[in-house]
Amino acid sequence: MIIKGVVSRVFTIRVVFALTAVLGIAFSVSKVNSMSGDSLPNNLPHPNPGGKAATFSTQGNVNLTGEYFQAQGTNGRSCVSCHIPEEAWSINPGTLQDLFDQTDGTHPVFNILDANNPNMDVSTPAARLAAYSMLLSRGVFRRGGPPRPNSEWELIAVEDPHGFASLERLVHWRRVMPTINFAQGSATVNWDGGNSIGVDQLAGLNNQAARNIIGAQQGLPAPPEVIADIVNFERSLSTAQLIVPGVGRLDSDSARGGPEELSGMEKTLGRFDLFDAWVDHSNPRRAQIARGQAIFNSTNANGRSCNGCHNSANNGTNIDNTLFDIRAASLAARTPDLPLYTFRNKSTGETRQLSDAGRGNITGLWTDLGKFKTPTLRALAARAPYFHNGIAPTLTDVVLHYEKHLLFVYTDQERADLVAFLNAL
Ligand code: HEC
Ligand code: HEC
Repeated sequence: MIIKGVVSRVFTIRVVFALTAVLGIAFSVSKVNSMSGDSLPNNLPHPNPGGKAATFSTQGNVNLTGEYFQAQGTNGRSCVSCHIPEEAWSINPGTLQDLFDQTDGTHPVFNILDANNPNMDVSTPAARLAAYSMLLSRGVFRRGGPPRPNSEWELIAVEDPHGFASLERLVHWRRVMPTINFAQGSATVNWDGGNSIGVDQLAGLNNQAARNIIGAQQGLPAPPEVIADIVNFERSLSTAQLIVPGVGRLDSDSARGGPEELSGMEKTLGRFDLFDAWVDHSNPRRAQIARGQAIFNSTNANGRSCNGCHNSANNGTNIDNTLFDIRAASLAARTPDLPLYTFRNKSTGETRQLSDAGRGNITGLWTDLGKFKTPTLRALAARAPYFHNGIAPTLTDVVLHYEKHLLFVYTDQERADLVAFLNAL
């Protein structure tokens, strides 16, 4: 089964994991790729549940030998351990489960840093299965830290099903964000914006890469040329859905979907216009995608528009770097495996219960609690589940979340149209 995996995925990074498992050797990515190609051609389609997505790099192809693919620290992890090309440069629970099965949970992606609780036993496969259940079930990594001192709020109660969060320590479960589509994206980097808001995007990406190397990869601070190589690579990448069954290529017949079209687009405020040419198209599935695009761009009965926040044209981040609270960390949307925090406003006494402080733990502001980056919406089909904590398993669940928690109103037909559009991004 592992061998079959190797053969059928010879061009993918997953081959590294499989070989490492079989031979028990920590192959470097470049070594394996020299056996199977050092690069991916631009626009190479990778299958996903909604069709096929692809990456286009302005470097001419997707070079798999750069610093992004090299373990920078002591624990065997590289950027690609968590940001996989074929999963729109994120990583999905199904892949984490495969990696676990192939290595009994010893692949570098399974590190005590991201265990449910770092005090858990990880000495046997069964123990590791329990310790990494958050990674395996929803593809979320453990982040967090002490509550920010001198905040407008105080943390007054904590429930953590995994027993690690406390009044002195917030645990935040976060999906891996895709390292793509920065050319039209905002300057905000990371789900909570880290310290990147108001700073330029390049500074934010440099900071992110440097911190990952000393943090998640447990390395020494990297020299500037390593950081530059990584960040130039990230900034070269555009990833988007390219093919949908029954629809065909999303850049055909005057439509402008797919990664290569995206790569040529400017950063600008505006509506999505990729599928304007398919309005009333004779292929009903193309016409449906165009209807979904119109629904996304228009104001709903609740007075809001998807495009109102996701307003960088054809990318979907927020052009003003604004973060929003869409209730993904709310008590009402919480699942039992997530922690629950009670915050109290020091001046008004008001309380809020959230599973993640979001931006609020960076700024200390009461109004920033529960706010998150407005992420790129391209190549969504390749990287379920959705939202910072992976609470929406499918794109339909995303739309249902907006209906339940932000009071968007859709008929069954409108919801299906909107999902067809999201699947084609
Ligand atoms: C252990 C897994 C892991 C590794 C290794 C890793 N990342 Fe990430 N990355 C994540 C997670 C999780 C997030 C989301 C974190 C958050 O926002 O709190 C993320 C977010 C990012 C973002 C933010 C994207 C955006 O749209 O704001 C960038 C950029 C990024 N990573 C780059 C890198 C680079 C460069 C490397 C290698 C130096 C790397 N990552 C290695 C897990 C990882
Ligand atoms: C008030 C601003 C706002 C509105 C309105 C809005 N979004 Fe979002 N969207 C966000 C933010 C912020 C996030 C990230 C939230 C989180 O994970 O906590 C997000 C996340 C998403 C994601 C998940 C992306 C990922 O990487 O996991 C999808 C898909 C999405 N939105 C689609 C939509 C659609 C469709 C609509 C209209 C029904 C919509 N959004 C309306 C701000 C908004």
